[in-house]
Amino acid sequence: MHSDTAPARVPASTTGSATTTAPPASASPTDAPTAPSAPTWDPQQYLRHAGHRARPFLDLLARIPELPTRAARIADLGCGPGNVTALLTDRWPEAHITGYDLSPEMLHRADAEYAGPTGGGGTLEFRHGDLADWLPEEPYDLIVSNAAFQWVPGHAGSFAPWINGLRPGGTFAFQIPGNFTAPSHRILADLCDTPRWRARLAGHGARYIHILEPSGYLERFTELGCAADVWETTYHQLLQGPDPVLDWVKGTALRPVLTALADDEEAVEAFLAEYRALLRAAYPTGPRGTVFPFRRIFAVARKEA
Ligand SMILES: C[S@@+](CC[C@H](N)C(=O)[O-])C[C@H]1O[C@@H](n2cnc3c(N)ncnc32)[C@H](O)[C@@H]1O
Repeated sequence: MHSDTAPARVPASTTGSATTTAPPASASPTDAPTAPSAPTWDPQQYLRHAGHRARPFLDLLARIPELPTRAARIADLGCGPGNVTALLTDRWPEAHITGYDLSPEMLHRADAEYAGPTGGGGTLEFRHGDLADWLPEEPYDLIVSNAAFQWVPGHAGSFAPWINGLRPGGTFAFQIPGNFTAPSHRILADLCDTPRWRARLAGHGARYIHILEPSGYLERFTELGCAADVWETTYHQLLQGPDPVLDWVKGTALRPVLTALADDEEAVEAFLAEYRALLRAAYPTGPRGTVFPFRRIFAVARKEA
């Protein structure tokens, strides 16, 4: 059984491309602890580990079956800086591809680097869209998402309308981190909940509790009448440089904390110093680098043709 419920939904914006609206205001230090609002993203920091982050997307792509048409309509949900969205054009150069994201910073980067016509006569564009209420506004051949649904509580509640929005024979495919009990995330959640930080950061380190196990996604897809292919992989990533795990999470899991403390540089430094020391103990650096195991869950659902 699934406890997640789908919020009210409206079709995604269909006009204009990347937005440049101001990022959300940071929480005031005196705010009572609340669930964090959308964090501010830093594409440059995120892309520092672009190779490791793109690998699961390529592994996901390898399992996506042929689409109903070569001139396919494709949506990439939570497209980030657009570098993995652009990989879709290698396989489907004739496709019309739209990347949707909530972050003005990410959309700006994606738009500047990748938007425009593709080599095979297709197009690549980026639009503002909130996955919490995004709905397919036209029939899609592929709806794909890489490393984004962990930010969207109740995402499994959207599978029915998204799959409903696929053409017969179309595919819905995603990859989601399954590492919320890993030391990197457990330590972060625990640190946010210590007496020193609780008033400002409680809840800011535990974003992933709504992720289903692979069996949950498989069950959801089969309930919806799809042919399902679900698996998990733990990548034993060998990272280089000083404090590489901290450097990694600064691009992702730490965004809510960095956003909440953005107006207080001293607090950011103090928090990072504590977190850095704990990460060094949890992920010791060896002679060839720092091993950062990362579990990811993959799911591919094909709608009946
Ligand atoms: C870890 S990044 C992944 C980016 C890209 N898919 C990739 O694989 O490199 C997560 C992305 O999800 C976006 N995101 C988070 N919550 C979202 C929401 N509710 N609606 C749309 N995008 C969201 C973030 O802005 C961010 O760009």
